[in-house]
Amino acid sequence: MSNNDAIREHLKYFRDLGVQGVTTDPVWRERGPRPLSGGEASSPPAADGTDATDGLVQVRARIGDCTRCKLHALGRQQIVFGVGNPHADLMFVGEAPGSDEDRQGVPFVGRAGQLLTKIIEAIKLSRDDVYIANVIKCRPPGNRNPEPDEVETCEPFLAEQIDLVRPRVIVALGTFAAHTLLRTETPISRLRGVVHEYRGAKLIPTFHPAYLLRSPTRKRDVWEDMKTVRALLDAAQ
Ligand code: URA
Repeated sequence: MSNNDAIREHLKYFRDLGVQGVTTDPVWRERGPRPLSGGEASSPPAADGTDATDGLVQVRARIGDCTRCKLHALGRQQIVFGVGNPHADLMFVGEAPGSDEDRQGVPFVGRAGQLLTKIIEAIKLSRDDVYIANVIKCRPPGNRNPEPDEVETCEPFLAEQIDLVRPRVIVALGTFAAHTLLRTETPISRLRGVVHEYRGAKLIPTFHPAYLLRSPTRKRDVWEDMKTVRALLDAAQ
């Protein structure tokens, strides 16, 4: 790829994320942290439900038939964007679609997904009440873990989904989602049991339902975490 092509690709990627243009203002050449003031959030706040619904449709349209990372050429059938209530108070974030999700285009529909549905119902909600998405929107081959370049490319779309839905509580399902969102390597067993802050929401890390299928004794811990979720939601009413 020539230099010009690389620059074109780079600019197209940022345009797809919603960045409107470039500036030659010297202040932007500095690499240090630049605190955001209220009006400069990375994506427009969802002022009401209509904005969130439309916004999610727009993000999905911008993703298009994505070829931004190598996963598009590694056997994915379709993009698995996210599902549920655009105004949800509660959002679940998993790792990446598996084969069932890749076939159906919906997150958490396989065996782990069926367990997640039960977990949601255990706190007196349904899948239609919550919003469910993954860090990565395409299935990694052989269900391997997503790789850093894939996360770097795809995670901004999850951030947009979160900023549009504006959930009060986010449940990070499993090590991969918790580590990605919280930018930590601390084991999930130490992250769980603590209420974290993330993009204006309370974030509760818990074990992934696929792990629970292999280690059912951990269901007790997940139930404790879900009681915390229920209490946070009730306190916000
Ligand atoms: N595991 C995940 O992390 N996400 C899914 O959508 C399905 C299984």
